[in-house]
Amino acid sequence: MTRHFLVDTDLSPEEQAEVLDLALQLKRNPYLRQPFAGEGAARKTVAVIFDKTSTRTRVSFATGIAEMGGSPLVINAGESQLGHKESIADTTNVLERMVSSIVWRTFAQSGLEEMAANSRVPVINALSDDYHPCQLLADLLTVKEHKGELAGLTLAYFGDGANNLANSYLLAGVTAGMHVRIAAPAGFQPADSVLQAAKIRAEETDASILVTDDVQLAAAGADVLATDTWVSMGQEDEKSSREQIFQPYSLDAAVLAQAAPDAIVLHCLPAYRGYEIAAEVIDGPQSVVWDEAENRLHAQKALMAWLMDRS
Ligand code: CP
Ligand code: NVA
Repeated sequence: MTRHFLVDTDLSPEEQAEVLDLALQLKRNPYLRQPFAGEGAARKTVAVIFDKTSTRTRVSFATGIAEMGGSPLVINAGESQLGHKESIADTTNVLERMVSSIVWRTFAQSGLEEMAANSRVPVINALSDDYHPCQLLADLLTVKEHKGELAGLTLAYFGDGANNLANSYLLAGVTAGMHVRIAAPAGFQPADSVLQAAKIRAEETDASILVTDDVQLAAAGADVLATDTWVSMGQEDEKSSREQIFQPYSLDAAVLAQAAPDAIVLHCLPAYRGYEIAAEVIDGPQSVVWDEAENRLHAQKALMAWLMDRS
């Protein structure tokens, strides 16, 4: 059966560790795996579809597919019939006959689920309203490089606790055996369905979950601090109210001072300095955000190679 990657828990703890190990190998040896190369000059195509804007995801998938012997076909919103003139199922039935994988950044998670249900080639979530699982593979790879073992580390996330990054930090973090703390105001904490899935996974891995509105409690002694924009793509109309609500959750120097002395700071980017993160934190010595951005490439190559091995 074809494997897809729509949500962080689509990989078991063992499988997540395999993908991260392969990512480390590919970082050292970029051309080690060639799942999209064919005989002679033949190259397989991978469709990379964007219903929302992107810099890192676009460049890292296009580069990674090319480095693994394939041709990336990047399709931007409004350039195809998908979503307005043609159903997801009909588009998928066409794509799967021509391409080796489909990477899709979209709004509704249900759209990705519908595509995967109709596809014999792997479908990869390149960000939806609910999850950003590829980002979390890169984040975990970055933590592994800087800290070694993931299991047992404490990761604290601050800000919008109900967005795609918060959900993925929870699910991917506990899959790796980490203690995940989410500091977010009431009304912006993770949905019960996400918490339930995270709790089930945490029991398998001896991980733990703390959801709180107390920034100090979340930050105390943490090994990894993370945040994300307060205004995700599609929420632009709520910008001013969100900036007020989340202001006490800004990842600034005072918050960083509560963490472990050797804590590292993650941000998936794009970042809004002075809002969810202070300039002195993201541009300071404990920030690893450029490693994190580069690791999108290595982690996604590993994911694509791993999925192609199983399809
Ligand atoms: N972090 C991330 O997904 O960046 P882009 O939106 O630029 O792809
Ligand atoms: N939560 C952000 C992540 C951007 C990479 C958004 O969805 O816009």
